[in-house]
Amino acid sequence: MTSTNPSASSFSKRLDGKVAIITGGASGIGAAAVRLFYENGAKVVIADIQDDLGQAIASKLGENGCYIHCDVSKEDEVINLVDSAVAKFGQLDIMYNNAGIVDGFFSGILETSKPDLERLLSVNVVGSFLGAKHAARVMIPRRNGCILFTASACVNLAGFSSHAYSITKHGIAGLAKNLSAELGQYGIRVNSVSPFAVATPICGGNSTQEEIERSNAFVNGVANLKGKTLTPEDVAQAALYLASDEAGYVSGLNLVVDGGFTVVNPSMVNAWAQFFNPNE
Ligand SMILES: NC(=O)c1ccc[n+]([C@@H]2O[C@H](COP(=O)([O-])OP(=O)(O)OC[C@H]3O[C@@H](n4cnc5c(N)ncnc54)[C@H](O)[C@@H]3O)[C@@H](O)[C@H]2O)c1
Repeated sequence: MTSTNPSASSFSKRLDGKVAIITGGASGIGAAAVRLFYENGAKVVIADIQDDLGQAIASKLGENGCYIHCDVSKEDEVINLVDSAVAKFGQLDIMYNNAGIVDGFFSGILETSKPDLERLLSVNVVGSFLGAKHAARVMIPRRNGCILFTASACVNLAGFSSHAYSITKHGIAGLAKNLSAELGQYGIRVNSVSPFAVATPICGGNSTQEEIERSNAFVNGVANLKGKTLTPEDVAQAALYLASDEAGYVSGLNLVVDGGFTVVNPSMVNAWAQFFNPNE
């Protein structure tokens, strides 16, 4: 597979000898993490429901990767995923629970139906819970491991996602912290990554270059950090750090990858500017 990461060749491989499962690995952030983890020496199991995409990516990883169909909301499929990964590669070191879905971005509570909420809960929260549970099942006896989640910057700032999505991402961040409390005694680290908006199919950056550029232009307009566009690779780099031994004493962290967006509220500064310079 062609390297997309210039640093991979110049530094030692940061996941050498490790085995990783990445859910939602057929697209977007998950696919970027698959590439980066593989380039850094990991054996990678791609888990997704988009079989053609997942298999196409796995075919580029040779004997150090494979694709397994897994709907993360179904426990029998998650059990099969974890057990197959261990059977194929002998162990599981990193479980990255990344698969997720959205509903309408701005649907208010009156427009949110119970089935909408349950659909998001079943993939985002139940799927993350099942992935963590069955990873812990095989990691606890080895007294070692790393469990990761993709939450969202909406955990840090209200009002920029739907209620259903926000509920699920708060649930994931809460699960990650609670698990870090339980699993520390077994040497298992648990962390989450929380991205700002990235142009992936989930976020309106679907397949065409035009759609990606439109999505990026919108996001860059409201972003705090200027001069750079957040990419799936940026988020995957944060996950790589948390998965690597460089983060060997990091657990219970929600690593926000948002260029400072959720710690800045520009409304006061803008109001002062208008107050002092009303004609500008
Ligand atoms: N893109 C963003 O702006 C953004 C921001 C914050 C958080 N996130 C989160 O990042 C994660 C990855 O999303 P993405 O942006 O890469 O979107 P994406 O749509 O490119 O990838 C999501 C992947 O999850 C898979 N998936 C969906 N339901 C599944 C299921 N039941 N079982 C297994 N796989 C399933 C999809 O097939 C897809 O391959 C999600 O959890 C999402 O909520 C994304």
